[in-house]
Amino acid sequence: MTHALSAGVPAIPRGTWRDHPNFQTQTLLLGSHRNFRRVSQWLIERAEQGEASSLRWPFDRWKGAMHGHEHYEESKLYPFLARRFGIDLSVMQQGHEALQHAEEQVFAAFDSGHVAIEALRLHHDILIAHLELEEDHVIPCLLSLTAEEFEAYSRARVT
Ligand SMILES: [Fe+2]
Ligand SMILES: [Fe+2]
Repeated sequence: MTHALSAGVPAIPRGTWRDHPNFQTQTLLLGSHRNFRRVSQWLIERAEQGEASSLRWPFDRWKGAMHGHEHYEESKLYPFLARRFGIDLSVMQQGHEALQHAEEQVFAAFDSGHVAIEALRLHHDILIAHLELEEDHVIPCLLSLTAEEFEAYSRARVT
């Protein structure tokens, strides 16, 4: 998928991230995203196998963890990067709102007794698009920080 990057995001192409000297220490967020993608895919596969009725609990638990991740991003990561790089990350916030709406549709499908596959797929598509857009904005910024800057950022409290 192609999408426009906000002005001010450092030009570090995705294909080169792994070779960057700060990749191992400053891109831990990618691990969380990898798990989100895996769990979302797992939920869809389970639903396709006719197990949708047993998925409400794992979906609920998973989304609880994701809300913690989103709170961290909105209260600490986005404000820091917006200040540091002068970039507009409001589209990320909008992505979280779209995910929230899709999540409510999944719960509505679970609660109505209908198969939730379509709602899970819609949620999955919105999630995948958000994660990719977010990574393309956030990872080049994180890689561009000096070790000292990243350390100071890491130590700062989440408000
Ligand atoms: Fe996010
Ligand atoms: Fe994220």
